[in-house]
Amino acid sequence: MRPLIAGNWKMHGDMSWVDKPGAFAELLPAAEREHLDVLICPPSLFIAPMAASCHEGNILLGAQNCHDAESGAHTGEVSAEMVKSAGADYVIVGHSERRAGGETNADVAAKAIAAAKQGVTPIICVGESLDIRKADEAEAVVSAQIKASVPEGLTDYVLAYEPIWAIGTGMTATAEDIKAMHAMIRDIVGPNVRILYGGSVKPANAKEILGTDNVNGALIGGASLEMESLAAIARAA
Ligand code: PGA
Repeated sequence: MRPLIAGNWKMHGDMSWVDKPGAFAELLPAAEREHLDVLICPPSLFIAPMAASCHEGNILLGAQNCHDAESGAHTGEVSAEMVKSAGADYVIVGHSERRAGGETNADVAAKAIAAAKQGVTPIICVGESLDIRKADEAEAVVSAQIKASVPEGLTDYVLAYEPIWAIGTGMTATAEDIKAMHAMIRDIVGPNVRILYGGSVKPANAKEILGTDNVNGALIGGASLEMESLAAIARAA
């Protein structure tokens, strides 16, 4: 399956960052990454001004969130249609940092449906807390999250497994844990859905993680902010 290397810039950067895709394409020209997809999910404001350079550099563009409604009185929110018309083809939904703010599995499923309606591919995020991992309930919790967050009948989506305790902490799950979790996820999502691993993926651990069975790419936070490290991770894929 074609790997997907996805950067999530979260709430970092300023308008000068819209030049980063150009820098990435110089570091790792499209001809050297024909076997994989590279995606950047910047803050929503940067999507439109990044669209041309991403297109030129053969880099996909995504948003970090969208609302489930088509439009309406939702101050501060961004619709899937806006995401699409700004030039993005992907959207992250259900990131743990948003679930921590109260986003439920049902909200995540509704956002995924809204995205799919606009032809925007949702990247649906799931993952367990450290308490759940320690209680040996990680697989049960992640399986329940997937069943409730992936809308029935949806086929074009990406599933991102991100153990919450590994996000931004420098801790990563062991290759064995990733292998076991991704095998379980594969059973649920079927053979055609790309399954990403996320949580402190760095150039130093990318090769091992990306070489694990049923890992079809990575969702990268901190290490996606510098194009050198994002390129190094893409080279490992
Ligand atoms: P991290 O973030 O790579 O900084 O751990 C991953 C994510 O939250 O998507």
